[in-house]
Amino acid sequence: MFIGLDLGTSGVRALLVDDGGMALASADCGLEVSHPHPGWSEQDPADWVAASRSALQALNAKAPAQMARVRGLGLSGQMHGATVLDAKGSVLRPCILWNDTRSHAQAAALDGAADVRALSGNIVFPGFAAPKLMWMAAHEPDIFAQVAKVLLPKDYLSFWLTGRAVSDMSDSAGTSWLDVGDRGWSDRLLDAGNMRRDQMPDVIEGTEVVGPMRADVAQDLGLPNGVLVVAGGGDNAAAACGVGALRDGDGFVSLGTSGVILAARDGFHPDPGSAVHTFCHAVPNRWYQMGVMLAATDSLNWLAKITGTPPAVLTGALTDLRPPANARFLPYLSGERTPHNDSAVRGAFVGLDIASDRAELTQAVIEGVSFGLRDSLEALRGTGADLSSLLAIGGGTGSRYWVELLSTVLGLPLQLPAQGEFGAALGAARLAICGVTGADPARIMAKPDIAETIDPNPNLKSAFDDAYTDFRSSYPALKAML
Ligand code: XUL
Repeated sequence: MFIGLDLGTSGVRALLVDDGGMALASADCGLEVSHPHPGWSEQDPADWVAASRSALQALNAKAPAQMARVRGLGLSGQMHGATVLDAKGSVLRPCILWNDTRSHAQAAALDGAADVRALSGNIVFPGFAAPKLMWMAAHEPDIFAQVAKVLLPKDYLSFWLTGRAVSDMSDSAGTSWLDVGDRGWSDRLLDAGNMRRDQMPDVIEGTEVVGPMRADVAQDLGLPNGVLVVAGGGDNAAAACGVGALRDGDGFVSLGTSGVILAARDGFHPDPGSAVHTFCHAVPNRWYQMGVMLAATDSLNWLAKITGTPPAVLTGALTDLRPPANARFLPYLSGERTPHNDSAVRGAFVGLDIASDRAELTQAVIEGVSFGLRDSLEALRGTGADLSSLLAIGGGTGSRYWVELLSTVLGLPLQLPAQGEFGAALGAARLAICGVTGADPARIMAKPDIAETIDPNPNLKSAFDDAYTDFRSSYPALKAML
């Protein structure tokens, strides 16, 4: 038996799987995010521990006999957060999360420094850990002076579980301190961010063991002695493990709050100029790349809120795929990452007509999000990623119309997985199996069963290609107006 423990932003999920990786039971516990100032986003690491305890204890209540036979626990988590510890291992301030933009000035400065993009393989985004520590140095010098270790969110859980400060490659790749091609801390990058190597945790592969769980913690959680904690991965890398996306040609599109297109890569092919993320995978000798748009289902949720109509009712009014709407929506409600790297841009409707109704606005919104994802696909293709089909996951795939639209806009068949577990918690559990048993990740990280494949609509493909060309020209025009 193995456990995957996924520390999300809105909650913790604990998943119990058998030795073959089959899901047996799960338990969740919610988390709050605090926003003490505009653009700030923080969580107290003590809340992560409390939520993890609750989820694991709830799992124990559901499956006590199986929990008594657990051999390993793998971790996954929200990336980029900076948890700062003093020399005694005490948390110095709340963790500054991935979606916190306070350090935009420090990020821009670091991004412009020599070698930083080349070594880290990425633009320095304000959400990454390095600029946050530069912000602390400037605004909280007393705290900064005491920083003995910086841990990513899931690595703080591993510290609680084992007493060891260790991270994995996939999560560390999102700090701007790691040489992502070489898979190790970079003295040049640490220096550029005014940090020291001794402030970093040891960095290992996601399939490697951090250490045994502390006996007192295991007892508290109702787990046997000697459970091994496995490093695991950042949430997107772990999700890729959950759907078996490990090699060139494997990938997924996620229609969640944010939208992601992820491509697994056999090698390191960075292209920071296009705002594509290039990170180490959670399995050795592999990387992955992804384009991220910040408001995917969030855009539809926004329309749902202002029209007082639930998202499923909005999309439910659209049945057979229609030609592109006359109205166009630019989906930048929270700014954008790929390909524009623009946290200041905001969204727009263009081409509204006196006859535009709720259905047309719904169509425009989901088309705008789909075009934004095509931007990410094109950026990924620019790095050499060769994707001939994608798994489609996330809440937005509940709309059949949206999946057919997205398939047509991307020009790719989209595979809808059959019901079941395939998220980051499953990926974390699979990493635990590999870490404890030495099993080959390629064998353990199978792809999910496919319920259905949706192909691009051949009659509307060229109309959507033309509409996408118009969409692409809208961003510079919008930018000039803001
Ligand atoms: C990835 C990213 C998010 C976080 C939170 O770069 O910022 O996916 O990991 O889930």
